[in-house]
Amino acid sequence: MRPVLSVTSECAPLVKTGGLADVAGALPAALAPQGWGMRTLLPGYGSVLKALRRPKTVAEFPDHFGGKARVLSGKASGLDILALDAPHLYDRPGTPYLDAGGIDHPDNPQRFAALGYAAAEIAKGALGDWTPEVVHCHDWQAGLAPYYLRNDKIGTVLTIHNIAFQGVAPAYLIDALRLDRSDFTQAGYEYWGQVSTLKAGLRYATRLTTVSPTYAEELTTPEFGMGLDGLLRAREGDLSGILNGIDTVTWDPANDPATVPYKTAKGKARAKKRLRKEFGLPETDGPLAVVVSRLSHQKGLDVLLDALPALIDRGGQLVVLGSGDRALEANLRKAADHPNVAVHIGYDEAMSHRIIAGGDAIIIPSRFEPCGLTQLYGLRYGTIPVVARTGGLVDTVIDASPMALRAGVATGLQFGPVTAHALATALLRLIALHRDPTTWARMQKNAMATEVGWDASAPAYAALYDEVAGA
Ligand code: ADP
Ligand code: GLC
Repeated sequence: MRPVLSVTSECAPLVKTGGLADVAGALPAALAPQGWGMRTLLPGYGSVLKALRRPKTVAEFPDHFGGKARVLSGKASGLDILALDAPHLYDRPGTPYLDAGGIDHPDNPQRFAALGYAAAEIAKGALGDWTPEVVHCHDWQAGLAPYYLRNDKIGTVLTIHNIAFQGVAPAYLIDALRLDRSDFTQAGYEYWGQVSTLKAGLRYATRLTTVSPTYAEELTTPEFGMGLDGLLRAREGDLSGILNGIDTVTWDPANDPATVPYKTAKGKARAKKRLRKEFGLPETDGPLAVVVSRLSHQKGLDVLLDALPALIDRGGQLVVLGSGDRALEANLRKAADHPNVAVHIGYDEAMSHRIIAGGDAIIIPSRFEPCGLTQLYGLRYGTIPVVARTGGLVDTVIDASPMALRAGVATGLQFGPVTAHALATALLRLIALHRDPTTWARMQKNAMATEVGWDASAPAYAALYDEVAGA
Protein backbone atom coordinates (compact mmCIF):
# COMPACT_ATOMS: atom_id res chain seq x y z
CA MET A 1 0.00 0.00 0.00
CA ARG A 2 1.26 3.47 -0.83
CA PRO A 3 1.07 5.83 2.15
CA VAL A 4 -1.22 8.88 2.14
CA LEU A 5 -2.02 11.15 5.08
CA SER A 6 -5.48 12.70 5.32
CA VAL A 7 -5.63 15.83 7.48
CA THR A 8 -9.05 16.82 8.74
CA SER A 9 -10.87 18.31 11.69
CA GLU A 10 -13.84 15.92 11.35
CA CYS A 11 -14.16 12.24 10.63
CA ALA A 12 -17.30 10.15 11.03
CA PRO A 13 -18.17 8.41 13.25
CA LEU A 14 -15.65 9.94 15.68
CA VAL A 15 -16.44 13.64 15.28
CA LYS A 16 -18.93 15.27 12.93
CA THR A 17 -20.66 18.58 12.34
CA GLY A 18 -21.41 18.07 8.63
CA GLY A 19 -20.64 16.22 5.41
CA LEU A 20 -16.88 16.75 5.67
CA ALA A 21 -16.89 14.13 8.42
CA ASP A 22 -18.71 11.59 6.26
CA VAL A 23 -16.31 12.07 3.39
CA ALA A 24 -13.15 11.96 5.52
CA GLY A 25 -14.53 8.87 7.24
CA ALA A 26 -15.29 7.10 3.95
CA LEU A 27 -12.11 7.88 1.98
CA PRO A 28 -9.78 5.32 3.63
CA ALA A 29 -12.02 2.35 2.81
CA ALA A 30 -12.68 3.71 -0.68
CA LEU A 31 -8.97 4.12 -1.43
CA ALA A 32 -7.64 0.87 0.00
CA PRO A 33 -8.73 -1.17 -3.06
CA GLN A 34 -6.89 1.43 -5.17
CA GLY A 35 -3.63 0.60 -3.42
CA TRP A 36 -3.49 3.65 -1.14
CA GLY A 37 -3.22 3.10 2.61
CA MET A 38 -4.65 6.19 4.27
CA ARG A 39 -3.99 7.33 7.83
CA THR A 40 -6.13 10.16 9.17
CA LEU A 41 -4.68 12.92 11.33
CA LEU A 42 -7.30 14.46 13.63
CA PRO A 43 -7.20 16.90 16.53
CA GLY A 44 -7.27 14.93 19.79
CA TYR A 45 -10.80 15.92 20.76
CA GLY A 46 -12.24 13.98 23.73
CA SER A 47 -14.43 11.81 21.48
CA VAL A 48 -11.44 10.91 19.29
CA LEU A 49 -9.12 9.97 22.16
CA LYS A 50 -11.86 7.94 23.82
CA ALA A 51 -12.47 5.92 20.66
CA LEU A 52 -8.80 4.99 20.07
CA ARG A 53 -8.00 1.36 20.70
CA ARG A 54 -4.58 0.62 22.22
CA PRO A 55 -3.11 4.04 21.40
CA LYS A 56 0.65 4.27 21.01
CA THR A 57 2.68 7.47 21.22
CA VAL A 58 4.43 7.80 17.85
CA ALA A 59 5.73 11.39 18.00
CA GLU A 60 6.18 14.10 20.60
CA PHE A 61 6.29 17.88 20.21
CA PRO A 62 7.48 19.53 23.46
CA ASP A 63 6.39 23.04 22.46
CA HIS A 64 3.38 22.84 20.17
CA PHE A 65 1.51 26.14 19.93
CA GLY A 66 1.47 26.83 23.66
CA GLY A 67 1.94 23.45 25.29
CA LYS A 68 3.12 19.89 25.05
CA ALA A 69 1.65 17.64 22.37
CA ARG A 70 2.05 14.11 21.11
CA VAL A 71 0.73 12.05 18.24
CA LEU A 72 -1.19 8.93 19.24
CA SER A 73 -1.65 6.15 16.74
CA GLY A 74 -4.49 3.66 17.01
CA LYS A 75 -7.51 2.11 15.35
CA ALA A 76 -10.99 3.49 15.83
CA SER A 77 -14.11 2.31 14.00
CA GLY A 78 -11.92 0.54 11.45
CA LEU A 79 -9.96 3.72 10.71
CA ASP A 80 -6.22 4.13 11.09
CA ILE A 81 -6.11 7.27 13.24
CA LEU A 82 -3.30 9.61 14.20
CA ALA A 83 -4.64 11.87 16.96
CA LEU A 84 -2.85 15.08 17.89
CA ASP A 85 -3.16 14.90 21.66
CA ALA A 86 -2.72 18.51 22.83
CA PRO A 87 -4.94 19.11 25.87
CA HIS A 88 -4.24 22.87 25.89
CA LEU A 89 -5.85 23.08 22.44
CA TYR A 90 -8.51 20.38 22.21
CA ASP A 91 -9.58 19.20 25.67
CA ARG A 92 -12.57 21.44 26.27
CA PRO A 93 -16.37 21.43 26.11
CA GLY A 94 -18.36 22.59 23.07
CA THR A 95 -18.12 21.59 19.41
CA PRO A 96 -14.86 21.39 17.44
CA TYR A 97 -15.22 25.10 16.66
CA LEU A 98 -17.54 26.65 19.24
CA ASP A 99 -17.51 26.88 23.02
CA ALA A 100 -20.45 25.77 25.15
CA GLY A 101 -22.06 29.19 24.63
CA GLY A 102 -21.93 28.88 20.83
CA ILE A 103 -19.05 31.37 20.33
CA ASP A 104 -15.90 30.52 18.29
CA HIS A 105 -13.04 29.31 20.49
CA PRO A 106 -10.82 32.42 20.57
CA ASP A 107 -7.69 30.41 19.76
CA ASN A 108 -9.11 28.59 16.72
CA PRO A 109 -6.27 29.94 14.54
CA GLN A 110 -3.68 28.32 16.83
CA ARG A 111 -5.76 25.14 17.25
CA PHE A 112 -5.81 24.44 13.53
CA ALA A 113 -2.35 25.80 12.74
CA ALA A 114 -1.21 23.17 15.24
CA LEU A 115 -3.01 20.50 13.19
CA GLY A 116 -1.40 21.63 9.93
CA TYR A 117 2.02 21.90 11.55
CA ALA A 118 1.81 18.37 12.96
CA ALA A 119 0.80 17.12 9.49
CA ALA A 120 3.87 18.78 7.99
CA GLU A 121 6.13 17.27 10.66
CA ILE A 122 4.69 13.82 9.95
CA ALA A 123 5.22 14.35 6.21
CA LYS A 124 8.84 15.25 6.96
CA GLY A 125 9.39 12.01 8.83
CA ALA A 126 8.39 12.65 12.47
CA LEU A 127 6.95 9.14 12.83
CA GLY A 128 10.18 7.50 11.71
CA ASP A 129 8.73 4.36 10.16
CA TRP A 130 5.88 5.87 8.13
CA THR A 131 6.14 8.82 5.76
CA PRO A 132 3.30 9.71 3.39
CA GLU A 133 3.86 10.17 -0.34
CA VAL A 134 0.90 12.55 -0.42
CA VAL A 135 -0.75 14.81 2.16
CA HIS A 136 -4.48 15.28 1.51
CA CYS A 137 -5.79 18.34 3.37
CA HIS A 138 -9.45 19.12 3.95
CA ASP A 139 -10.79 22.69 4.16
CA TRP A 140 -9.39 25.67 6.06
CA GLN A 141 -8.63 23.66 9.17
CA ALA A 142 -5.83 21.85 7.31
CA GLY A 143 -5.00 24.76 4.99
CA LEU A 144 -1.65 25.62 6.54
CA ALA A 145 -0.11 22.17 6.02
CA PRO A 146 0.77 22.88 2.35
CA TYR A 147 2.27 26.20 3.47
CA TYR A 148 4.48 24.58 6.12
CA LEU A 149 5.57 22.09 3.43
CA ARG A 150 6.23 24.74 0.78
CA ASN A 151 9.97 24.12 0.72
CA ASP A 152 9.77 20.33 0.80
CA LYS A 153 9.27 17.98 -2.09
CA ILE A 154 6.04 16.46 -0.80
CA GLY A 155 2.88 16.40 -2.88
CA THR A 156 -0.14 18.03 -1.28
CA VAL A 157 -3.82 18.10 -2.23
CA LEU A 158 -6.26 20.59 -0.76
CA THR A 159 -9.95 19.72 -1.01
CA ILE A 160 -12.49 22.52 -0.71
CA HIS A 161 -15.64 21.23 0.96
CA ASN A 162 -17.02 24.68 1.59
CA ILE A 163 -15.39 27.95 0.59
CA ALA A 164 -17.61 29.95 2.95
CA PHE A 165 -15.28 29.04 5.81
CA GLN A 166 -11.90 30.64 5.12
CA GLY A 167 -9.92 30.38 8.36
CA VAL A 168 -9.36 34.10 8.71
CA ALA A 169 -7.09 35.24 11.58
CA PRO A 170 -5.73 38.64 12.59
CA ALA A 171 -2.30 39.58 11.25
CA TYR A 172 -0.80 39.99 14.73
CA LEU A 173 -0.87 36.18 14.99
CA ILE A 174 1.63 35.73 12.12
CA ASP A 175 4.49 34.77 14.44
CA ALA A 176 2.30 32.74 16.78
CA LEU A 177 1.10 30.72 13.78
CA ARG A 178 4.71 30.15 12.68
CA LEU A 179 4.23 31.90 9.35
CA ASP A 180 6.97 33.71 7.51
CA ARG A 181 6.34 37.47 7.43
CA SER A 182 7.75 37.69 3.91
CA ASP A 183 4.78 35.64 2.64
CA PHE A 184 2.27 38.10 4.10
CA THR A 185 1.49 39.38 0.61
CA GLN A 186 -1.30 39.03 -1.88
CA ALA A 187 0.70 36.32 -3.60
CA GLY A 188 1.03 34.50 -0.26
CA TYR A 189 -1.39 33.89 2.59
CA GLU A 190 -2.45 37.52 3.11
CA TYR A 191 -6.17 38.16 2.65
CA TRP A 192 -7.51 41.69 2.99
CA GLY A 193 -4.95 42.54 5.66
CA GLN A 194 -5.49 39.33 7.57
CA VAL A 195 -4.28 35.74 7.41
CA SER A 196 -6.45 33.15 5.62
CA THR A 197 -5.50 29.55 6.18
CA LEU A 198 -7.76 28.48 3.31
CA LYS A 199 -6.04 30.92 0.98
CA ALA A 200 -2.68 29.54 2.13
CA GLY A 201 -3.84 26.05 1.20
CA LEU A 202 -5.18 27.19 -2.17
CA ARG A 203 -1.98 29.02 -2.90
CA TYR A 204 0.59 26.42 -1.78
CA ALA A 205 -1.00 22.97 -2.34
CA THR A 206 0.25 21.04 -5.36
CA ARG A 207 -3.29 20.33 -6.55
CA LEU A 208 -6.76 21.54 -5.59
CA THR A 209 -10.00 19.65 -5.65
CA THR A 210 -13.57 20.25 -4.68
CA VAL A 211 -16.41 17.83 -4.21
CA SER A 212 -18.30 18.13 -7.51
CA PRO A 213 -17.48 19.16 -11.09
CA THR A 214 -20.14 21.88 -11.18
CA TYR A 215 -18.91 23.48 -7.94
CA ALA A 216 -15.37 23.41 -9.36
CA GLU A 217 -16.63 25.60 -12.22
CA GLU A 218 -18.75 27.80 -9.97
CA LEU A 219 -15.83 28.46 -7.62
CA THR A 220 -14.00 30.40 -10.30
CA THR A 221 -16.84 32.96 -10.51
CA PRO A 222 -17.23 35.99 -8.21
CA GLU A 223 -20.71 34.82 -7.20
CA PHE A 224 -19.51 31.53 -5.70
CA GLY A 225 -15.77 32.08 -5.12
CA MET A 226 -16.44 34.31 -2.11
CA GLY A 227 -13.35 36.45 -2.62
CA LEU A 228 -11.05 33.59 -3.59
CA ASP A 229 -12.28 33.23 -7.18
CA GLY A 230 -9.34 35.22 -8.57
CA LEU A 231 -6.82 32.83 -7.05
CA LEU A 232 -8.89 29.87 -8.24
CA ARG A 233 -9.04 31.26 -11.76
CA ALA A 234 -5.27 31.62 -11.68
CA ARG A 235 -5.00 27.96 -10.65
CA GLU A 236 -7.84 26.66 -12.80
CA GLY A 237 -5.57 24.05 -14.40
CA ASP A 238 -4.79 22.59 -10.98
CA LEU A 239 -8.42 22.49 -9.80
CA SER A 240 -10.75 19.57 -10.40
CA GLY A 241 -14.11 18.36 -9.10
CA ILE A 242 -14.42 14.84 -7.74
CA LEU A 243 -17.91 13.90 -6.69
CA ASN A 244 -18.53 12.66 -3.14
CA GLY A 245 -19.93 9.21 -2.57
CA ILE A 246 -21.85 7.98 0.46
CA ASP A 247 -21.35 5.02 2.73
CA THR A 248 -23.73 2.54 1.10
CA VAL A 249 -23.51 0.14 4.04
CA THR A 250 -24.64 2.66 6.68
CA TRP A 251 -27.18 4.03 4.21
CA ASP A 252 -28.85 0.89 2.93
CA PRO A 253 -32.64 0.78 2.82
CA ALA A 254 -32.60 -3.03 2.66
CA ASN A 255 -30.61 -3.26 5.86
CA ASP A 256 -31.15 -0.24 8.06
CA PRO A 257 -31.58 -0.99 11.75
CA ALA A 258 -32.89 2.53 12.39
CA THR A 259 -36.07 1.98 10.38
CA VAL A 260 -38.33 -0.55 8.64
CA PRO A 261 -36.02 -2.01 5.99
CA TYR A 262 -37.21 -2.29 2.38
CA LYS A 263 -35.74 -3.55 -0.88
CA THR A 264 -38.10 -1.85 -3.29
CA ALA A 265 -39.98 1.41 -3.17
CA LYS A 266 -43.17 -0.50 -2.36
CA GLY A 267 -41.80 -1.28 1.08
CA LYS A 268 -41.48 2.44 1.80
CA ALA A 269 -45.18 2.57 2.70
CA ARG A 270 -44.48 1.06 6.11
CA ALA A 271 -41.57 3.35 6.81
CA LYS A 272 -43.77 6.29 5.82
CA LYS A 273 -46.59 5.19 8.07
CA ARG A 274 -44.18 4.91 10.99
CA LEU A 275 -42.70 8.31 10.31
CA ARG A 276 -46.14 9.93 10.25
CA LYS A 277 -46.96 8.23 13.53
CA GLU A 278 -43.68 9.33 15.11
CA PHE A 279 -44.42 12.95 14.20
CA GLY A 280 -48.19 12.87 14.78
CA LEU A 281 -49.04 13.66 11.16
CA PRO A 282 -52.44 12.65 9.73
CA GLU A 283 -52.83 10.33 6.72
CA THR A 284 -53.17 12.40 3.54
CA ASP A 285 -52.83 11.69 -0.18
CA GLY A 286 -50.18 14.29 -0.85
CA PRO A 287 -46.43 13.68 -0.84
CA LEU A 288 -44.57 13.63 2.48
CA ALA A 289 -41.57 15.91 1.99
CA VAL A 290 -38.61 15.82 4.36
CA VAL A 291 -35.52 17.89 5.22
CA VAL A 292 -32.41 16.85 7.17
CA SER A 293 -30.02 19.76 7.34
CA ARG A 294 -27.81 22.19 9.15
CA LEU A 295 -29.91 25.31 9.50
CA SER A 296 -27.68 27.92 7.91
CA HIS A 297 -28.26 30.57 5.26
CA GLN A 298 -26.48 28.30 2.73
CA LYS A 299 -29.24 25.69 2.95
CA GLY A 300 -32.07 28.03 1.83
CA LEU A 301 -34.70 26.75 4.25
CA ASP A 302 -36.08 30.27 4.71
CA VAL A 303 -37.06 29.99 1.04
CA LEU A 304 -38.77 26.68 1.71
CA LEU A 305 -40.82 28.30 4.49
CA ASP A 306 -41.97 30.98 2.03
CA ALA A 307 -42.87 28.35 -0.60
CA LEU A 308 -44.54 25.99 1.85
CA PRO A 309 -48.19 26.85 1.10
CA ALA A 310 -47.73 25.37 -2.40
CA LEU A 311 -47.17 22.01 -0.71
CA ILE A 312 -49.36 21.95 2.36
CA ASP A 313 -52.41 23.66 0.85
CA ARG A 314 -52.66 20.65 -1.48
CA GLY A 315 -52.43 17.86 1.03
CA GLY A 316 -48.63 17.66 1.08
CA GLN A 317 -46.73 17.36 4.35
CA LEU A 318 -43.32 18.33 5.68
CA VAL A 319 -41.01 16.87 8.33
CA VAL A 320 -37.83 18.79 9.20
CA LEU A 321 -34.85 17.68 11.28
CA GLY A 322 -32.18 20.31 11.77
CA SER A 323 -30.36 22.70 14.03
CA GLY A 324 -28.29 25.84 13.73
CA ASP A 325 -29.44 29.39 13.12
CA ARG A 326 -31.68 30.43 16.04
CA ALA A 327 -34.06 32.63 14.01
CA LEU A 328 -34.59 29.87 11.45
CA GLU A 329 -35.20 27.35 14.23
CA ALA A 330 -37.88 29.67 15.66
CA ASN A 331 -39.55 30.17 12.27
CA LEU A 332 -39.59 26.45 11.59
CA ARG A 333 -41.15 25.82 15.00
CA LYS A 334 -43.81 28.39 14.15
CA ALA A 335 -44.52 26.65 10.82
CA ALA A 336 -45.10 23.42 12.76
CA ASP A 337 -48.34 24.92 14.13
CA HIS A 338 -49.85 23.67 10.88
CA PRO A 339 -51.17 20.11 11.31
CA ASN A 340 -49.26 18.91 8.23
CA VAL A 341 -45.86 20.24 9.31
CA ALA A 342 -43.62 18.65 11.95
CA VAL A 343 -40.24 19.97 13.06
CA HIS A 344 -37.59 18.49 15.30
CA ILE A 345 -34.81 20.87 16.27
CA GLY A 346 -31.69 18.91 17.15
CA TYR A 347 -29.05 16.58 15.77
CA ASP A 348 -30.01 12.90 15.64
CA GLU A 349 -28.40 10.32 13.34
CA ALA A 350 -30.97 7.55 13.89
CA MET A 351 -33.86 9.95 13.36
CA SER A 352 -32.24 11.16 10.13
CA HIS A 353 -32.41 7.59 8.81
CA ARG A 354 -36.07 7.21 9.80
CA ILE A 355 -36.95 10.50 8.15
CA ILE A 356 -35.12 9.83 4.91
CA ALA A 357 -36.56 6.31 4.69
CA GLY A 358 -40.12 7.47 5.41
CA GLY A 359 -40.27 10.50 3.12
CA ASP A 360 -41.60 10.58 -0.43
CA ALA A 361 -39.33 13.47 -1.35
CA ILE A 362 -36.35 15.29 0.17
CA ILE A 363 -36.11 19.05 -0.34
CA ILE A 364 -32.69 20.73 -0.70
CA PRO A 365 -33.09 24.40 -1.66
CA SER A 366 -29.42 25.36 -1.10
CA ARG A 367 -28.10 28.73 -2.29
CA PHE A 368 -24.83 26.94 -2.95
CA GLU A 369 -23.91 23.30 -2.37
CA PRO A 370 -20.39 22.00 -2.99
CA CYS A 371 -21.74 18.45 -3.22
CA GLY A 372 -24.47 17.63 -0.72
CA LEU A 373 -24.98 14.18 0.70
CA THR A 374 -28.63 14.08 1.70
CA GLN A 375 -29.83 14.04 -1.93
CA LEU A 376 -27.65 10.94 -2.36
CA TYR A 377 -29.27 9.32 0.68
CA GLY A 378 -32.62 10.28 -0.83
CA LEU A 379 -31.78 8.60 -4.15
CA ARG A 380 -30.67 5.44 -2.41
CA TYR A 381 -33.89 5.28 -0.37
CA GLY A 382 -36.23 6.09 -3.27
CA THR A 383 -36.98 9.45 -1.66
CA ILE A 384 -37.19 11.80 -4.63
CA PRO A 385 -34.77 14.75 -4.33
CA VAL A 386 -36.11 18.23 -5.08
CA VAL A 387 -32.94 20.30 -5.38
CA ALA A 388 -31.69 23.75 -6.25
CA ARG A 389 -29.87 23.83 -9.57
CA THR A 390 -26.43 24.44 -8.05
CA GLY A 391 -23.13 22.67 -7.30
CA GLY A 392 -23.17 18.96 -6.67
CA LEU A 393 -26.96 18.93 -6.70
CA VAL A 394 -26.81 19.51 -10.48
CA ASP A 395 -24.35 16.65 -10.92
CA THR A 396 -26.29 14.03 -8.97
CA VAL A 397 -29.99 14.50 -9.75
CA ILE A 398 -31.64 14.07 -13.17
CA ASP A 399 -34.48 16.57 -13.47
CA ALA A 400 -37.89 15.28 -14.48
CA SER A 401 -37.94 17.38 -17.64
CA PRO A 402 -40.34 16.26 -20.37
CA MET A 403 -37.43 14.67 -22.29
CA ALA A 404 -36.03 12.89 -19.23
CA LEU A 405 -39.47 11.57 -18.38
CA ARG A 406 -39.98 10.36 -21.93
CA ALA A 407 -36.57 8.69 -21.90
CA GLY A 408 -37.46 7.18 -18.53
CA VAL A 409 -34.33 8.44 -16.78
CA ALA A 410 -35.56 11.10 -14.33
CA THR A 411 -34.54 10.71 -10.68
CA GLY A 412 -35.72 13.99 -9.12
CA LEU A 413 -36.52 17.64 -9.66
CA GLN A 414 -34.24 20.62 -10.09
CA PHE A 415 -35.30 24.23 -9.76
CA GLY A 416 -33.70 27.64 -10.01
CA PRO A 417 -33.09 30.34 -9.10
CA VAL A 418 -33.42 29.84 -5.33
CA THR A 419 -36.59 31.87 -4.87
CA ALA A 420 -39.88 31.03 -3.20
CA HIS A 421 -41.61 31.28 -6.57
CA ALA A 422 -39.28 28.81 -8.33
CA LEU A 423 -39.43 26.39 -5.41
CA ALA A 424 -43.23 26.64 -5.22
CA THR A 425 -43.37 25.80 -8.92
CA ALA A 426 -41.16 22.76 -8.30
CA LEU A 427 -43.41 21.68 -5.42
CA LEU A 428 -46.42 21.87 -7.73
CA ARG A 429 -44.54 19.69 -10.24
CA LEU A 430 -43.75 17.29 -7.40
CA ILE A 431 -47.39 17.01 -6.44
CA ALA A 432 -48.40 16.35 -10.06
CA LEU A 433 -45.73 13.66 -10.50
CA HIS A 434 -46.71 12.05 -7.22
CA ARG A 435 -50.32 11.80 -8.45
CA ASP A 436 -49.20 9.72 -11.42
CA PRO A 437 -48.32 6.31 -9.92
CA THR A 438 -46.57 4.93 -13.01
CA THR A 439 -44.24 7.88 -13.46
CA TRP A 440 -43.60 8.11 -9.73
CA ALA A 441 -42.71 4.43 -9.46
CA ARG A 442 -40.35 4.75 -12.42
CA MET A 443 -38.59 7.72 -10.84
CA GLN A 444 -38.21 5.88 -7.54
CA LYS A 445 -36.78 2.87 -9.31
CA ASN A 446 -34.31 5.05 -11.23
CA ALA A 447 -33.35 6.85 -8.04
CA MET A 448 -32.69 3.64 -6.15
CA ALA A 449 -30.58 2.30 -9.02
CA THR A 450 -28.36 5.41 -9.13
CA GLU A 451 -24.69 4.76 -8.35
CA VAL A 452 -24.07 6.80 -5.17
CA GLY A 453 -21.08 5.00 -3.65
CA TRP A 454 -17.39 5.63 -4.19
CA ASP A 455 -16.84 3.34 -7.20
CA ALA A 456 -16.38 6.19 -9.65
CA SER A 457 -14.62 8.71 -7.42
CA ALA A 458 -12.10 6.52 -5.60
CA PRO A 459 -10.11 5.87 -8.82
CA ALA A 460 -10.20 9.62 -9.53
CA TYR A 461 -8.56 10.38 -6.17
CA ALA A 462 -6.08 7.55 -6.70
CA ALA A 463 -5.11 8.94 -10.11
CA LEU A 464 -4.65 12.38 -8.58
CA TYR A 465 -2.46 11.04 -5.74
CA ASP A 466 -0.40 9.29 -8.39
CA GLU A 467 0.26 12.54 -10.22
CA VAL A 468 0.90 14.53 -7.08
CA ALA A 469 3.27 11.97 -5.57
CA GLY A 470 5.48 12.22 -8.60
CA ALA A 471 5.32 16.03 -8.76
P1 ADP B 1 -23.10 20.01 4.91
O1 ADP B 1 -21.81 19.31 5.06
O2 ADP B 1 -23.01 21.31 4.21
O3 ADP B 1 -23.86 20.13 6.19
P2 ADP B 1 -23.97 17.60 3.48
O4 ADP B 1 -25.26 17.32 2.81
O5 ADP B 1 -22.74 17.32 2.73
O6 ADP B 1 -24.03 19.13 3.94
O7 ADP B 1 -23.83 16.75 4.80
C1 ADP B 1 -24.64 16.90 5.92
C2 ADP B 1 -24.51 15.66 6.78
O8 ADP B 1 -24.96 15.96 8.10
C3 ADP B 1 -25.38 14.52 6.30
O9 ADP B 1 -24.77 13.30 6.68
C4 ADP B 1 -26.68 14.75 7.07
O10 ADP B 1 -27.46 13.61 7.20
C5 ADP B 1 -26.13 15.20 8.39
N1 ADP B 1 -27.03 16.06 9.18
C6 ADP B 1 -27.27 17.39 9.02
N2 ADP B 1 -28.12 17.84 9.95
C7 ADP B 1 -28.44 16.77 10.72
C8 ADP B 1 -29.27 16.59 11.87
N3 ADP B 1 -29.94 17.61 12.40
N4 ADP B 1 -29.34 15.36 12.41
C9 ADP B 1 -28.66 14.33 11.88
N5 ADP B 1 -27.86 14.43 10.81
C10 ADP B 1 -27.74 15.64 10.23
C1 GLC C 1 -19.51 20.70 2.86
C2 GLC C 1 -20.58 21.09 1.85
C3 GLC C 1 -21.37 19.92 1.31
C4 GLC C 1 -20.48 18.71 1.04
C5 GLC C 1 -19.67 18.38 2.29
C6 GLC C 1 -18.75 17.17 2.10
O1 GLC C 1 -19.90 20.83 4.18
O2 GLC C 1 -21.45 22.09 2.34
O3 GLC C 1 -22.02 20.29 0.12
O4 GLC C 1 -21.26 17.60 0.67
O5 GLC C 1 -18.87 19.47 2.63
O6 GLC C 1 -17.85 17.35 1.04
